[in-house]
Amino acid sequence: MRANHEAFTRRTLRSRVLVDVSHIDPTTTVLSTPVNAPFFVCPTAYHGSIHPDAEMGTARAASAAGVLAAFSTLSTASLEQIAAAAPAGPRWFQLYLQPEFSASQRLVERAEKSGYSAIVLTVDLPVLANRDRQAHGGFALAAWPPLGNGADIVGPPRGFETRGRTFTLRPDAESGWKILDQLRGVTDLPLVVKGVLTADDALAAIEHGARAVIVSNHGGRQLDGAPASLDALPEVVAAVGTRAEVYLDGGVRRGSDVVMALGLGARAVGLGRPILWGLGAGGERGVARVLSLLMVDLLTTMALTGRRSISELDSTVLGPVRGT
Ligand SMILES: Cc1cc2nc3c(=O)[nH]c(=O)nc-3n(C[C@H](O)[C@H](O)[C@H](O)COP(=O)(O)O)c2cc1C
Repeated sequence: MRANHEAFTRRTLRSRVLVDVSHIDPTTTVLSTPVNAPFFVCPTAYHGSIHPDAEMGTARAASAAGVLAAFSTLSTASLEQIAAAAPAGPRWFQLYLQPEFSASQRLVERAEKSGYSAIVLTVDLPVLANRDRQAHGGFALAAWPPLGNGADIVGPPRGFETRGRTFTLRPDAESGWKILDQLRGVTDLPLVVKGVLTADDALAAIEHGARAVIVSNHGGRQLDGAPASLDALPEVVAAVGTRAEVYLDGGVRRGSDVVMALGLGARAVGLGRPILWGLGAGGERGVARVLSLLMVDLLTTMALTGRRSISELDSTVLGPVRGT
């Protein structure tokens, strides 16, 4: 988690001056969907444990801002309730594989029917990591609110204590990356693979039909010793080229972070905790405030670097890496 932040502090930006920055355009597209900003709301579990507005508040705030939002399998509200709260979207559904493929299939079909425009398959959580801070803070699994998507949805696997309850594939299932082929067999929605940190995994995802990958270490919540997402990004971008879109999440807090990630080749970046902080502080209005603060900060950074559009945020915006 700290490395995600520190990776941004090591980077610098190269500005161009005396550029007419009276008009700055932060709009772009993600998988052909027009959005008002190159940042999106990451899927995070249990918004209802943070504020009664729950995922509906997040969905409304993102939709009003024209920002893409992804919603977790482990949402407090059902995916249908989330869709109804902000019918215009744009929204994606994040899938944690269920022990039975038929259960994953049902979730995907519900998402497709409810107007979600992509399936984000999170692949970096075959088991839940040892999260000491949660344990020390008394975060009790038993106190988690019920899952909005149905009592039959399998919650997070609790390490190796509870064999069978896992987001990974069943031993007898088609193994590994073939799960993407299986998913493509049951939905026309584009697949986005979240939680990739290496060129090899990104290429495997594309080989099996993923239209995009999210370079992510799960906000530092999974593998201790994983690299910062930003440090893993160049390897993935170089391998993927133009064959798929590449996004990044982890540690994005300011406009300069967004610009650095785009300079390194990300098409868009995701926000995890900042959205939850906003939701906790003020529900829907808090999320709206976080999104507008970041938007203003992005526009300011673009103006100060002399870049007027997202297409101008290429590698020329990057300066030397500090300490090298
Ligand atoms: C409280 C919390 C819950 C999360 N739940 C999910 C989840 O259900 N599914 C998922 O794919 N990622 C989940 N994530 C990871 C985020 O999608 C994202 O990768 C990460 O938060 C980005 O880092 P950041 O928090 O530094 O912005 C969660 C993260 C947090 C902090």
